[in-house]
Amino acid sequence: MMRMNGVIDVRLGSRAYPIRVEPGAWNLLPEFLGARTTGSRVIVVTDERVGSHYLDRLNKALGHTSYGIDIHTIPEGEGSKSFSEVERLCRRMASLGLERGDLVIAMGGGVVGDLAGLAASLYLRGVGLVQLPTSLLAMVDSSVGGKTGINIREGKNLVGTFHQPEAVFIDTRVLGTLDDRDWFSGMAEVLKTALALDRQLFDYLEGYSDLGPLGGVDVVRVITVSCLRKAEVVEEDERESGTRRVLNFGHTLAHALEASSGYGTFRHGEAVALGMRGAIMLSGEMCGLAMTEMRRALAMVDRIPVPGTVNLRGLSGFMSRDKKSIGGKIMTVLISEIGQAQVVPLEDAGILVDTLSRMGIGD
Ligand SMILES: NC(=O)c1ccc[n+]([C@@H]2O[C@H](COP(=O)([O-])OP(=O)(O)OC[C@H]3O[C@@H](n4cnc5c(N)ncnc54)[C@H](O)[C@@H]3O)[C@@H](O)[C@H]2O)c1
Repeated sequence: MMRMNGVIDVRLGSRAYPIRVEPGAWNLLPEFLGARTTGSRVIVVTDERVGSHYLDRLNKALGHTSYGIDIHTIPEGEGSKSFSEVERLCRRMASLGLERGDLVIAMGGGVVGDLAGLAASLYLRGVGLVQLPTSLLAMVDSSVGGKTGINIREGKNLVGTFHQPEAVFIDTRVLGTLDDRDWFSGMAEVLKTALALDRQLFDYLEGYSDLGPLGGVDVVRVITVSCLRKAEVVEEDERESGTRRVLNFGHTLAHALEASSGYGTFRHGEAVALGMRGAIMLSGEMCGLAMTEMRRALAMVDRIPVPGTVNLRGLSGFMSRDKKSIGGKIMTVLISEIGQAQVVPLEDAGILVDTLSRMGIGD
């Protein structure tokens, strides 16, 4: 993998693709589309909020292409990761007569990316996908790696596919309209990458007492490094049969919290921040994480504000349905030091929940 001026190549053989991180990256779309040898139509999938801010800008960028453009808007929020929205989108593609060589462009946060990605992988058994992530979380995590998915009542992301995009264009200018809560939600995933994989990134972030949008963190740098780390892991284990699980640091508890509290109560990153607190504590008890490291790690996670109350009841049941469980054992991720994650099988999901309870989190 190479990194030159905000260009990352995700090397996956025939499914390889570039990630471009820079202010104005969407202006590279006409060149990309011009180089495609198939297709004449694009369907842009977005949510109401992102669409109202950025459809004009995207239309301007796409105006320089010969592609026919259609827009499909979904309701904002986690509730749109549903079978009914997949069906609505696939039927729209069919009614527009989209063909195999045509393209789905996902312009939005992780919800739009996960839903549009799933529909793109299913419609005609797979059409092309381009990710234009607009939330910090989607830029540092969900737009890269090819996981798509929707939620069902029984659990988060339990229905999904692997479908790599043809390209990811990260235009950091759009972050200006993101809510603080969504900014911090993305920062939680940046911290996850730092804690699980990249001590240098952790040290860099530790230098900022404020991880908010005005705190001074170099956002292009943080996004580029996060994408690089994710791309390296995905190149090694595209379909999560081993190493890729380390990207789920904090997620065993997070997915259970999101499902049990009703999707949308917590932002995904907020749930991950809570999950990381439990995982850091357990890392001290089960994985040899030194006390000084544990304090530093917890102090950083505490910089992610998490509003609302946490209900711990029923979490263990949701964890046992986690897709990462094997033979009834939950595959959780712990750290032996900052930047060094490993997968640890847990006999009993209750251990993680107890950890939060002992920390005084939730009731
Ligand atoms: N596929 C993966 O590998 C992967 C990885 C991590 C998370 N996820 C998924 O991602 C989802 C969370 O993503 P998210 O936090 O982006 O949620 P989201 O898509 O709901 O976006 C959060 C909010 O921000 C708004 N928004 C997005 N960009 C904006 C902008 N530039 N300006 C103003 N508002 C903007 C959206 O309208 C929405 O209200 C979860 O469903 C999670 O499971 C997937």
